[in-house]
Amino acid sequence: MILASCRPGDAVILPRDAHMSALGGLILAGARPVYSSLGAMEDRSWGPPDLEDLSAALASQAPRAVLLTRPSYAGSLFDLDVYAERIHAAGVTLLVDEAHGAHVGLHPALPEGALALGADAAVQSTHKMLGALTPGAMLHLKGGRLDQDRVHRALSLLQTTSPSYLVLASLDAARRKEALAPPERWEAPIRWARLARERIAGLPGLRVMPPGDPLKIGIDVTGAGLSGYEAADILAQEGVIIEHATHRLVVAFMGPGTRPGDLERLAEACLAFARHAPRNEPDPPMPPIPPMVLLPREAFFAESRPIPWSRALGEVSAELVCPYPPGAPALVPGERITPEVVEYLDDMRALGAQFVGPADPNFETIRIMA
Ligand SMILES: Cc1ncc(COP(=O)(O)O)c(C=O)c1O
Repeated sequence: MILASCRPGDAVILPRDAHMSALGGLILAGARPVYSSLGAMEDRSWGPPDLEDLSAALASQAPRAVLLTRPSYAGSLFDLDVYAERIHAAGVTLLVDEAHGAHVGLHPALPEGALALGADAAVQSTHKMLGALTPGAMLHLKGGRLDQDRVHRALSLLQTTSPSYLVLASLDAARRKEALAPPERWEAPIRWARLARERIAGLPGLRVMPPGDPLKIGIDVTGAGLSGYEAADILAQEGVIIEHATHRLVVAFMGPGTRPGDLERLAEACLAFARHAPRNEPDPPMPPIPPMVLLPREAFFAESRPIPWSRALGEVSAELVCPYPPGAPALVPGERITPEVVEYLDDMRALGAQFVGPADPNFETIRIMA
């Protein structure tokens, strides 16, 4: 979507915690990222982007496109139509990462889809919530803001000339199934999820996130003195493998194959949180976004070399450095390594965070601009 809508140097507004595939799009297109701040919700994976901040960036940055993620992995939603109106009023294209929304619009109780709410393009990972084979996905377009010819050219650059007919057939089968199956088949899991939410909300220290996507149950475990990652480990010990964990949440998801017993087991397993000693230290807040010295594309093609992380202050990173938790990058290729970033990443390492991005799996070295 980014490659089809932007030319080198064009600005794209996107959330700092956009999926790493967005960085790939920025590199391929040579676009300039402008990071929108997220809403003020305690859990960033639940909060909507800040609308006023986005409006200010639309006015000051003259972007070519805005990329928003909806629903989030955790199932949060926001009023995309309101955002679409502002974005289109500024003459800008709205791209939506709808990876977690292949099921949107399939039942009145499910979230409305991005195209219905005004997006110009949305990409859905059909393999995530529907039955397509991994990595089957669909790109949906609407209206004339995105030049379809450029979309085709971008796709032919990115895709193999020998597509997997297994994946294509599975996409068509998933589509056909949803077209023909009665939408009521979504009603039972939606109802069970509601009942499970009510039950879990009554457990000590647990807060169930406001319903977004009704097929997702986001449970804030911080009141039990746990991070989402720790809670996911405890659930795994109880035999419940959770779909996703964030800094503060564990997220379960339902599908037409979910049975009431599955949710019973989830609620029972949540009782185990009370048997574990809570940790007390809060995770450090994210540092300010560091200055961008090179565009991601320039950084990608520049010469780089590894140096010990302990000597990296002041250098320009050649790597993405994304600690989990919380899963938002502290460094994007081309950004200056500031004292705040050094302190933050040192603290995160001491707390046992995993680092996605660096070539050195132990993050003892980092690649910097040569
Ligand atoms: C928000 C978001 N966007 C995009 C993707 C990439 O999707 P895929 O793995 O189907 O390429 C993911 C993967 O989890 C994601 O969470």
